[in-house]
Amino acid sequence: MLVLGLETSCDETGVALYDSERGLLADALFSQIDLHRAYGGVVPELASRDHVKRMLPLIRQVLAEAGCVATDIDAVAYTAGPGLVGALLVGASCAQALAFAWDIPAIGVHHMEGHLLAPMLEATPPAFPFVALLVSGGHTQLVRVDGIGQYQLLGESLDDAAGEAFDKTAKLMGLRYPGGPEIARLAERGTPGRFVFPRPMTDRPGLDFSFSGLKTFTLNTWQQCQNGGDDSEQSRCDVALAFQQAVVETLTIKCRRALKQTGLNSLVIAGGVSANRALRTSLEDMTAALKGNVFYARPAFCTDNGAMIAYAGCQRLLAGQHEGLAITVQARWPMEQLPALH
Ligand code: KG4
Ligand code: ZN
Repeated sequence: MLVLGLETSCDETGVALYDSERGLLADALFSQIDLHRAYGGVVPELASRDHVKRMLPLIRQVLAEAGCVATDIDAVAYTAGPGLVGALLVGASCAQALAFAWDIPAIGVHHMEGHLLAPMLEATPPAFPFVALLVSGGHTQLVRVDGIGQYQLLGESLDDAAGEAFDKTAKLMGLRYPGGPEIARLAERGTPGRFVFPRPMTDRPGLDFSFSGLKTFTLNTWQQCQNGGDDSEQSRCDVALAFQQAVVETLTIKCRRALKQTGLNSLVIAGGVSANRALRTSLEDMTAALKGNVFYARPAFCTDNGAMIAYAGCQRLLAGQHEGLAITVQARWPMEQLPALH
């Protein structure tokens, strides 16, 4: 089954062709980062308009790259939520229109299920069951995964998501949007041990997270540096490193706890923050000590992309699921509400 996947939940237009027999055939992405950078974050109206502009050229591009024509496509998968409603509607309307015109099924995919399954596109995919750490701009969740659609939420952030904490902290420090890659880049040149920040909520039991206090702590430290006349690049790097280390160690402690609690030793990390190299290394060390493994997607498939939507949609379509003709999207959508595939 050849599936066209469309991702438009936020600030990236992602389009891909995934074939259930041959794997991923083509994948194209247009990132709107330059468009939103001047505003320090995503402007929803601008995002929607840009998705409209990019969608059809990207679809033509993946068809050409895969050497396919429209009539080869068996189904269309699109992100139906969670995300920005206006942006989601672009992908949903486009997918439903194409499916209607081509007389093929369409399926709405849950964006976080897309992220969660993205490591399945790699050479060594994880096997069920596993614990997943979903860390994106909008979500930080620990989930027990027993199969597609068999999700048990173990813990989540009570305030900012991990990616959001990176983005907001970066903004407070005068860095560019998106903040995650910027902080990661500065942290590489940071002095280990110069600043040590708290590891929020690690001193009490449970698997929930809280990152907003860490953001304030980081801002205060940076302001103290500046007030003392030190706004050097080195100090910025040192603060960035201390912040990143606090996030990474907090996530690692909670992942270890989740593995212990479930008795599992496979961990999947997915979503934009899973591209962070320090996080990957820390989780690799932690799982190795438990004689387990950590799985993640290639960096381009950690952040938003069409391939994960085409893949997730394909699995659900193969199980017989598809949508009616109505165009419905959801800004909020708990992943546990998804039906299981048996
Ligand atoms: O999954 P994603 O592309 O979009 C959402 O679904 O939200 O995640 C974007 C988030 C942003 O907050 C961005 O700053 C963060 O992922 N991110 C990173 C890195 N690359 C992207 N955070 C830390 N380190 C990175 N290397
Ligand atoms: Zn995402």
